[in-house]
Amino acid sequence: MDFLKLARERYSVRKFKSQQVEQEKIDKILKAIQLAPTAKNSQAFKVFLFSSKQAKQKLDDLIIFPFMKEAPLAIAIGACKTTGYLRKFDNKSYNQVDASIAATHMILEIAALGLGTTWLGHFDDKLVKNAFPELNDYDLVGIFPIGYPADDAKPSEMHSQRKSIDKLLVKI
Ligand SMILES: Cc1cc2nc3c(=O)[nH]c(=O)nc-3n(C[C@H](O)[C@H](O)[C@H](O)COP(=O)(O)O)c2cc1C
Repeated sequence: MDFLKLARERYSVRKFKSQQVEQEKIDKILKAIQLAPTAKNSQAFKVFLFSSKQAKQKLDDLIIFPFMKEAPLAIAIGACKTTGYLRKFDNKSYNQVDASIAATHMILEIAALGLGTTWLGHFDDKLVKNAFPELNDYDLVGIFPIGYPADDAKPSEMHSQRKSIDKLLVKI
C-alpha cells in the first residue's frame, strides 16, 4: 500500500470485534517491530504480549478505557532502563525514542493487516508493574489493545484535527 494512504487511513480504533487475531498476523506485527531502526542499532526495548486470557483480563482490570476489554489481544512496549545507547555528549538515552519508533512501526502494520489499535499512554504505571513485575526494568511507552475493528468503529474527531504544515514547519 502507498505509505501516505496507509498513514491517512490509520486511526485510533476504540471499538473492537471479539474475533481472535490469527497467529500469522501476530507474527507480522512482531516482524514490523523487529524491523524498526534504533539508535546505534541498540534495540534496547522489549515487547510484552498479553495473549493468554488470564494475563489479558488482569491487564484489562487496570486500564480505564472500556474498549480495552473488547480487544482480544494487547501488547506493551517498554524501553530498557539499564542498557542501550547513550549519546556521549550528554548521556541522553534514546531508548524511549527507539521503543516509540518500534511502536509506530507496529501500529502501521496493524492498520495494514486490517486490524486496529489505540496507543494508550494514560495508565497507572505503578499499578501495571505491581501486577506484572516482569515490566519493572522498562519505561513503558504505550499499551496497545489489538483486534479487528467493530463494523461501526470510526475515527474520533481528533483524527482529522491536524495542524497545518505551515504551523509545524520552521524553515531555517
Ligand atoms: C503517546 C500517545 C499516547 C496516547 N494515549 C492515549 C490514551 O491514553 N487514550 C486514548 O484514547 N488515546 C490515546 N492516544 C491516541 C491519540 O489520542 C490519537 O492518536 C490522536 O488523537 C490522533 O488520532 P488518530 O490516532 O485517530 O489519528 C495516544 C497517542 C499517542 C501517540
